[in-house]
Amino acid sequence: MPPTQGPILYLAPFQGITDAIYRTSFNRYFGGLDAAFTPYISGTGTEKVSKNKLIDVLPEVNQAIRTIPQILSKDADEMLLLSKSLAALGYSEVNWNMGCPFSRVARKQRGSGMLPYPELVRQILDKLYQEGMPLGLSVKMRTGYNGHEDILAMIDVLNDFPLTEVIVHPRTGKQLYKGEASETAFSAIVDKVKSPLAWNGDIFSVEKFRELQDKFPSIQRWMIGRGALINPVLPLMISHPDAAKSIDWRKALSGFLQDIYLETYYRNEGRTAVVSRMKSLWVYLRESFENPTEAFRVIRKTRTPEEYLEAEMKVIADAELKLFY
Ligand SMILES: Cc1cc2nc3c(=O)[nH]c(=O)nc-3n(C[C@H](O)[C@H](O)[C@H](O)COP(=O)(O)O)c2cc1C
Repeated sequence: MPPTQGPILYLAPFQGITDAIYRTSFNRYFGGLDAAFTPYISGTGTEKVSKNKLIDVLPEVNQAIRTIPQILSKDADEMLLLSKSLAALGYSEVNWNMGCPFSRVARKQRGSGMLPYPELVRQILDKLYQEGMPLGLSVKMRTGYNGHEDILAMIDVLNDFPLTEVIVHPRTGKQLYKGEASETAFSAIVDKVKSPLAWNGDIFSVEKFRELQDKFPSIQRWMIGRGALINPVLPLMISHPDAAKSIDWRKALSGFLQDIYLETYYRNEGRTAVVSRMKSLWVYLRESFENPTEAFRVIRKTRTPEEYLEAEMKVIADAELKLFY
């Protein structure tokens, strides 16, 4: 499916889920996206980026869709070194994670833990641009750590730099995933950000997307996370509704999962690893079914690949789907 002409749609990054295998299979069976952001790369250091850290961003496994690597760091030297490695791989853009809410990350002033510290961010950006940042830089952020107001001072800093894009998920770090993405918090910054601005958060249906589009008519870029993990046809339903109607959901889901299964299996991660990976996808996929608890119960109790495959086939063939159209 060619890139959309209407809204620009991104797949949000999910550590442990949306790796290159997932992104490629997603595009093969569902599509509807303009680009996908990778789960964050971190801990690359300032000496030499190990090959292992780049495994998910190697161009040869990212041919299916425009891919934007993401970095989690508060060290300008580390960011510069990783950016150089990514530039050498052919990338033109890197995304900076200023949104991760988990306390092991945030308490070290990384991810959403940076949001109360605009001057720290200014120092990092100053250094990046003074020392020849080789890539376009975009930012993915929450609206604050303790409170939404953090973003106001942060936007003043970000506006001083030529960022390629700012993606905002209007929840605070403290909130984790509780409550709703705040349209009020987003409204407070929608006209203040100089770089192109993208919305991220709670797009679970076409209706919700249209509602947000009506509310924020200046926004062209939209990042979809859990909504796409639950119903992988959602981006296509938004960008190409007619094409989405011709997709046989159960068949596409089956092919999508089979590809992920086989790729994971052949990466020699072992029989247990393949089962636990597949189960982790069902944490989201189960919400596509009328009875998510029952669908997941069947999947969750499996131990071996054989048991898992049988359960997957049964759920996909028999379980009642929620109405998507
Ligand atoms: C398990 C999990 C892993 C995530 N990993 C990342 C990540 O690596 N980088 C990132 O920027 N966001 C990450 N996120 C956040 C999502 O990309 C997204 O911003 C969030 O789910 C809100 O969007 P949604 O409401 O459309 O799901 C993660 C979220 C979850 C639940």
